[in-house]
Amino acid sequence: MTTTRLSFDMAGVRDAARLINEGALVAFATETVYGLGADARSDAACAAIFEAKGRPRFNPLIVHVTGLEDAQRYGVFSPAALRLAETFWPGPLTLVAPRRDGARLSWLATAGLDTVALRAPAHPAARALLAAADAPIAAPSANRSGAVSPTTADHVLGDLGGRIAAVLDAGPCDVGLESTIIEATGPEPRLLRAGGLARGPIEAVAGSLSGPQPPGAGAPLRPTSPGQLASHYAPQAQMRLNVATPRADEAFLAFGEAPPLPATAAVRNLSDAGDLQEAARRLFADLRALDAAKPASIAVAPIPNEGLGEAINDRLRRAAAPRPVTSADATGRPK
Ligand code: TXA
Ligand code: MG
Repeated sequence: MTTTRLSFDMAGVRDAARLINEGALVAFATETVYGLGADARSDAACAAIFEAKGRPRFNPLIVHVTGLEDAQRYGVFSPAALRLAETFWPGPLTLVAPRRDGARLSWLATAGLDTVALRAPAHPAARALLAAADAPIAAPSANRSGAVSPTTADHVLGDLGGRIAAVLDAGPCDVGLESTIIEATGPEPRLLRAGGLARGPIEAVAGSLSGPQPPGAGAPLRPTSPGQLASHYAPQAQMRLNVATPRADEAFLAFGEAPPLPATAAVRNLSDAGDLQEAARRLFADLRALDAAKPASIAVAPIPNEGLGEAINDRLRRAAAPRPVTSADATGRPK
C-alpha cells in the first residue's frame, strides 16, 4: 500500500473523510500529536489500527468527537466531567466516562471495557475531518506502539508509511504532547496521564486530582491507561535523565542555558529561553532527531516539574525506563 500525503484543504479533507467512511486508516493532525484515525463504529477499521501500530489489543483507543453533545452519545458524563468538557473542549483533554448502554461503538475501540475515552480536538484539520466524515474517529497516536509520538506528517510516514492509506498533513503540532487523560467515572476525577493540559487549570475547575501512579509502580499487566506501561514513548538510544554535563559520546537534550559542549556533539535545546510550552512542542521531534544520530545514549538536562513540565518529565521517565526484551525483537525496543 502507498500512503498518500493529503494537504489540509477542501479536497484533502474530502478525500480523508471518504477513506475513513470506507473503513481505511487515515492519520491526521491534532493540536497534541498526529492521530491514526479509523471509524470508531467499525470492528474491521479498529482492528486495522491495532494491526498497523503493533499495539496490544487490551490497550483501548481514544474516541474523537466534535464536542460534548456528540460525546454524550457514547459516554455518560458526571457533573465533574461536564464541567471539565465545558471548560476545556475543544482541546488537549481526554475524559474517561462510563460507556453509554447501546453506544454505537466497536468494542475493539474500548478494548471491551465498560468505560470510553473521549476527546474533542481543537485543531481545525481534526475538526474538519470529524465533520466531513460525520463519524466518531478512534485514534491513538500515529506511531508504532511503544515509540515516540509523531508531531509532523514526516514522523508519521517514517513510522507507518506503507501501512496506512493516507496522512492529512497540516504541519507541526502546536502542543506537542498527548492529551491529559482524566478518569471521571466516580465522584472524584483522577489523573490517568499527564499531558498537554497542565494540572493547574484542571484543578481550578475540578479540585485537587489524585494520580497518576509513577511509572513502574505496580506496573499492571493490563493497564487502564496508556503510558501506564513503564517503558513507552521510547527512542532506540538509551536515555539518562537530569544530566548537567553529558559524556563525550552522548547526544544532549538541553533546556535553557546549555553547558559548553564539544562542537561534534549532537545537541538540541528544548527551549533556550527555558519556556516549558516551547519545550513540550519540541520534545518528540528533538528526541527523534537526536536518536537518528545513533548516539551511545541521550543525556537530558533537568526539566522543572511545574506546569507542562509534569508531562514532559513523565514522557522522559518512560523513555528512560528499562525496556522489555522479547524474542520477537532483540533490539530491546518496546513493542
Ligand atoms: O493527544 C492524544 O491523546 C492523542 C491524539 C491523537 O488525540 N492520542 C493518543 O492516543 O495519545 P494513545 O492511544 O496513544 O493514548 C491514549 C491512551 C491509551 O494508551 C489508553 O490506555 C488510554 O488512553 N485509554 C483509552 N481508553 C481508556 C479507558 N477506557 N480507560 C482508561 N484509559 C483509556
Ligand atoms: Mg500513543
